[in-house]
Amino acid sequence: MIQNKSKTVSDETGEAQIGWIEGGVPCSTLFDDPYYSRQDGLAETRHVFLAGNRLAERFAACDRFTIAELGFGTGLNFLATAQMWHETAPPAAKLDFFSFEQFPMTAGDMAAALTVWPELTMLARPLLEAWSDSSNLTKVFELKNENIALTVLFGDANTRLPQAGFSADAWFLDGFSPAKNPELWNTTLMEEVFRRTRPGGTLATYSAAGWVRRNLETAGFRTERQPGYAGKRQMTVAMRPE
Ligand SMILES: C[S@@+](CC[C@H](N)C(=O)[O-])C[C@H]1O[C@@H](n2cnc3c(N)ncnc32)[C@H](O)[C@@H]1O
Repeated sequence: MIQNKSKTVSDETGEAQIGWIEGGVPCSTLFDDPYYSRQDGLAETRHVFLAGNRLAERFAACDRFTIAELGFGTGLNFLATAQMWHETAPPAAKLDFFSFEQFPMTAGDMAAALTVWPELTMLARPLLEAWSDSSNLTKVFELKNENIALTVLFGDANTRLPQAGFSADAWFLDGFSPAKNPELWNTTLMEEVFRRTRPGGTLATYSAAGWVRRNLETAGFRTERQPGYAGKRQMTVAMRPE
């Protein structure tokens, strides 16, 4: 169990506690942090996670691709990825998307957050429908269509990731800010992320915190800073050397 100034986090799964800020952006009252940029979460996802991992060009050239994410939240990153996949990947290619979530949002809160982007409505519908059945939110959530398989593993990623059996081509590190959610950025977890990244695989995060970058380097990644989204000077991308 980790004691923070403002909260106590155990490794048990619990429901997300949501408050809403300007523009319909969900904010965790447990972590006191928004789920994504107040400016435009979808544009931030495209900048940080999709472009940060060079996904458009990699999708276009693949027949199979695996993405893993720390922090499923509203599903926005997943939906933006699925949208890009449909636009860029060859028709027969397969995408596996794994995500970890300790505090699942209700389907109602997810739907309320996602209404801001009508272009995602069709993609969000099957996700929200399946998510609204709470018996699906116990240990593992799975949703598959012809080309995309989504798996969300519930519980503390520190416990769940070592039990997982995939190797990712790209990672989205999307915990709450490292200062408020340090348990999702620690060295041991970054080492586990490294072990579950294919040689030549990449990761991206909106964070430019020096200690996060050092944890990634210690784990074995080669890191680089890039311009961040909307006024954030920097973000971090990294690669597992071949
Ligand atoms: C910034 S939000 C993620 C936003 C999300 N990617 C999206 O597209 O909406 C961070 C997420 O990490 C989750 N989280 C925080 N600590 C965690 C932990 N130890 N293990 C798994 N998930 C965790 C939170 O519940 C929250 O959903």
